[in-house]
Amino acid sequence: MRIIILGAPGAGKGTVAKLLSGLDGSVQISTGDILRSAVVAGTDLGKEAKGYMDRGDLVPDSLIMSVMEERLQEPDCGRGFILDGFPRTINQADALKGLLEKLRLKLDLVVNLEVPRDVILDRLTTRRTCSNPECQEIYNIKSKPPTADGKCKKCGSPVIQRDDETEEAIIYRLETYNEKTAPLIGLYEKEELLKSFASISSKETVEEIKKRLKSKV
Ligand code: AP5
Repeated sequence: MRIIILGAPGAGKGTVAKLLSGLDGSVQISTGDILRSAVVAGTDLGKEAKGYMDRGDLVPDSLIMSVMEERLQEPDCGRGFILDGFPRTINQADALKGLLEKLRLKLDLVVNLEVPRDVILDRLTTRRTCSNPECQEIYNIKSKPPTADGKCKKCGSPVIQRDDETEEAIIYRLETYNEKTAPLIGLYEKEELLKSFASISSKETVEEIKKRLKSKV
């Protein structure tokens, strides 16, 4: 499958993308995970991105596009890809369209996860993430807790709260989403690629996405 997952911070994009990638080997590509790994590794990309990320701002389009142009041409993308957190601006969506045309690839679906603001705020303050850059498994102290001593159930690394999980940064991320990313909903609606899901249960959402993809084959 080749799909984009749109949704506000905390809507459950990463959770749904991980479940989908387990279905047919399509690779999950999270620009947030790529950037966090770069910050931990202390690369030039990480150094440039960290300030934007910590205050809840978007990283410049030029940086994101140079990462994604390379990433989408890696061999594992041949099995399909699930774009989690990309594109996030109209400029990124336009650049992605051009890149996919160049690579002669078509998108199957754009999934829009709709979650009420109070649920989002609750999810973000209770989320925890595996600190191992190779794993980055997502936990939630209410709905999906790590081990009793705060370790990742997959790789055993400590599970932590992200640097952009302060109340101030969360509110700024939601405002940035409304201003810069929400306009993509209308854009993909016009292209007849968009399907919105009220994301209450991630597993049910995945079942609905599967049905939708089958009906398009
Ligand atoms: P990114 O990592 O993409 O953050 P985000 O969009 O803010 O999304 P989140 O990861 O916070 O949430 P999610 O929707 O994936 O939800 P999750 O599944 O974790 O980006 C971080 C930063 O990087 C950005 O702020 C920006 O600076 C930069 N960046 C990234 N991409 C960029 C781009 N393209 N352009 C420019 N800058 C970019 O779920 C949240 C919690 O809820 C978890 O605890 C989970 O367990 C729980 N949960 C999920 N689903 C359910 C459910 N159905 N029921 C109960 N709990 C649930």
